[in-house]
Amino acid sequence: MGLHTPRYKGLLGWVDARMPSIMDIFEAHIANYYAPKNFNFWYFFGSIAAVVLVIQLVSGAFLAMHYKPDSRLAFWSVELIMREVQGGWLIRYMHSVGASFFFIVIYFHIFRAMLYGSYRTPREIVWIAGCVLFLALMAESFFGYLLPWGQMSFWGAQVIINLFSSIPVIGPDLSTWIRGDFVIGDATLNRFFALHTMVMPTVMIGLIVAHVMALHDVGSNNPDGIEIKEHRGDDGKPLDGIPFHPYYTVHDIYGIAFFFIIYFAVVFFAPEMGGVFLEGNNFIPADPMQTPLHIAPLWYFTPFYTILRATTADFLPWLGGAVLALGALTYFTVRGWRVRLFVAAMTALAFSFATVHKVQLDAKLWGVILMAVSVTILFALPWLDHSPVKSMRYRPTWHRVLLFVFIAAFFVLGYFGMEEPNPMRNIISQFCMAIYFGFFALMPWWSRMGTFKPVPDRVRFTAH
Ligand code: HEM
Repeated sequence: MGLHTPRYKGLLGWVDARMPSIMDIFEAHIANYYAPKNFNFWYFFGSIAAVVLVIQLVSGAFLAMHYKPDSRLAFWSVELIMREVQGGWLIRYMHSVGASFFFIVIYFHIFRAMLYGSYRTPREIVWIAGCVLFLALMAESFFGYLLPWGQMSFWGAQVIINLFSSIPVIGPDLSTWIRGDFVIGDATLNRFFALHTMVMPTVMIGLIVAHVMALHDVGSNNPDGIEIKEHRGDDGKPLDGIPFHPYYTVHDIYGIAFFFIIYFAVVFFAPEMGGVFLEGNNFIPADPMQTPLHIAPLWYFTPFYTILRATTADFLPWLGGAVLALGALTYFTVRGWRVRLFVAAMTALAFSFATVHKVQLDAKLWGVILMAVSVTILFALPWLDHSPVKSMRYRPTWHRVLLFVFIAAFFVLGYFGMEEPNPMRNIISQFCMAIYFGFFALMPWWSRMGTFKPVPDRVRFTAH
């Protein structure tokens, strides 16, 4: 009859006889995927991120049933959803709180990778797919934030799109092209709606598939940073691995349940989070004739926004000095005259652009460059970290201290991005920027320094 021999009974067997590839995927990626048995708290966030994506897709689809992507109607259609549509307020709050939780979860997820060196060989592609996902998530939330067409939507988009106009030569035309008009208007709203609801979700789903496929090809890292595939039993299975199903499916459901408790507590009791998750100014319809006194992006962009804002003209000589120091350090570290020549030329170029009159780039453009670098530098992490061991557990304690100082600087940058700037805050922000960039730029040197602890052969695990 041309049917495959089913591996299961009942309905599942009926499907398996006709479409075995479904259960092949289940077996390869869930039932027979061996994950290290010592996963801890930090390993919940990958599956929680996938759950948040589903929340956003479902709540977004329901919002789109009532939302009007028209600059005259958009704001009022959101008000209609909040006041008239049955359960509309819940759907809207689930979506807006979901956006903030998506970033919280992803920041935890990235932190875990930094803690255990999960970006190191052989997981570079997992990491790169993750970094592209992070950029996609940022784009997705930026497009979405324009849709309610409130004051912050309008002026936030105005500030960010204007940044493109500081790019030499093509900048002004590029920003007009992005807006589809000389000012943010109906054309911008329409394209952002298409990008937010169709393009970016599709891109993100594709990236997640690539991310997880790459991970399953090489296998998961773990808090000890040991490759479990290096110790296999007679059956060829990793001795320190357990099948993802049922062990981690149950484990993850437990983590997801906790997540839901916290998420719904916020949705029901503090959906605006005191203006942090939904800003007060965004409950005022967009008015192109009236600039709000204080324009700030949502909290998850503020560390990068502060880097943009704190790059003022008085910071450029410091930047020049840092470029020179880093250039000299790199010059004396690399080998081969061609590489050295390249390093010297790039250092001279960057130094002149930062300090030399006439060729010096505008501080605003430097701000845009540094902001872009502050995000994209993540891509380089696998090649910046030269530590002989992956996990922080076996690195010198001061490496852990450095990581926490870096995180603290990131928090301070984030906090100042939400507040109005003043000279004192600017200086502190510049200091935190130095920590932020210094952490990455000097990593090739500091990551191999100090006394490393011996890494055990097998993972550390106590049954609980
Ligand atoms: C929508 C966003 C994302 C989703 C749904 C997602 C999903 C997942 C899942 C399900 C896992 C396996 C479970 C786990 O280790 O927690 C994983 C692992 C991983 N993810 Fe993501 N991820 C996302 C974004 C990112 C980002 C932004 C990065 C880094 C910039 C990243 C880096 C990693 C790394 C390095 C691993 C391997 C961890 C290890 O084996 O120790 N992911 N991700």
